[in-house]
Amino acid sequence: MNVSSSVLKMSFINLTKSCTRGLATSVARMATIKNVTIIGGGQMGAGIAQVAAQTGHRVVVVDQSDEILLKSVAGIQKSLARVVKKKFADDPSGGESFLKTTMAQISTATDAESAVKEADLVVEAIVENIKIKQNLFEKLDKAAPQNTIFASNTSSLAISEIAQTSQRKDRFGGLHFFNPVPVMKLVEVVRIDETSDDTFNSLVAFGQAVGKTTVSCKDTPGFIVNRLLVPYLMEAVRLMDRGDASARDIDVGMKLGAGHPMGPFELLDYVGLDVTKFIMDGWHKDFPDNPLFNPSPSIDKLVAEGKLGVKTGEGFYNYKK
Ligand code: CAA
Ligand code: NAD
Repeated sequence: MNVSSSVLKMSFINLTKSCTRGLATSVARMATIKNVTIIGGGQMGAGIAQVAAQTGHRVVVVDQSDEILLKSVAGIQKSLARVVKKKFADDPSGGESFLKTTMAQISTATDAESAVKEADLVVEAIVENIKIKQNLFEKLDKAAPQNTIFASNTSSLAISEIAQTSQRKDRFGGLHFFNPVPVMKLVEVVRIDETSDDTFNSLVAFGQAVGKTTVSCKDTPGFIVNRLLVPYLMEAVRLMDRGDASARDIDVGMKLGAGHPMGPFELLDYVGLDVTKFIMDGWHKDFPDNPLFNPSPSIDKLVAEGKLGVKTGEGFYNYKK
């Protein structure tokens, strides 16, 4: 072997060693996401808690009262029962033990600050309101260990704005799950300018560890899916408001004519009309000249009447019967 080829070989060995070391370090970093604190135990928070617990993470769910948390945990148990029924159809005792083990991974708390003390990752899934999210992260920033990564499940708010009140912007990102979380296979991982590569990789690794496919996106309004989905939903409401077609016919049209699993009005009720109103109001404020983001008087009226969709028993449709 001549000198130059031996130098090349040595460089290759060193490169391989350093790549392996690099890989080992980043894998070690990713592996540290074991303890996850979910703030908000509603539709989304409960779903995220379920998939995280199901995949062996220790989970603390935080919400405003024990009453809400009881409901949240009961919802997780019910949803897990569906998973068990499907996955353990021929193995009832395996199913029983999966249910027990998963539920044992989950604890609850009403004090967010103490609930993040051991968190590797905090996923926020509270009300879609910038001020409330910023206040929460300002408090958590002081309470959580230095290495804890913060993520928001926001549908429509800018992650960079939510991160404003925290001093750990390099350890901040978006983790956008879809409803129903146990069923939907996607997570959007959103990075802001300051998000470090380690944080981004850890968020991607977490998304994959809970069984999802991840896609990444810049911090742009609605990320990928909602930027396309929400204007479509609003256009369906405008079609109905103009009297061009009924909600029922539009829903049947999109299910049978476009192969969607739910029609737009069914989906609006499923997501929650309050959530959609928060999204539209925010976007309209930020982009008043974009007609795609005009709010809907029909949705505003239903929300004012407390008809938020499936979760309150009535929205565009009545679920009480
Ligand atoms: N937990 C566990 N499993 C569940 C579940 C839950 N909460 N909900 C449904 N499932 C399972 C069922 O057990 C069933 O499994 P099998 O087929 O293996 O038996 C399967 O999912 C289908 O459920 P159902 O038969 O009860 O009902 P369905 O066929 O009508 O499907 C649905 C329900 C999965 C919700 C389907 O209608 C669907 O995919 N709808 C569209 C949902 C969607 O678009 N979500 C995105 C909303 S936008 C968003 O989330 C972003 C945002 O920021 C607003
Ligand atoms: P939800 O109303 O079902 O649940 C929100 C929960 O947060 C409630 O239980 C509420 O008590 C709790 N909460 C509110 N403020 C809190 C605080 N300061 N501390 C602790 N808990 C608090 O709402 P959701 O549909 O689960 O949405 C949560 C977030 O996820 C929102 O940002 C929403 O935009 C986003 N999101 C919603 C959907 C959807 O389809 N509903 C999908 C993806 C993302």
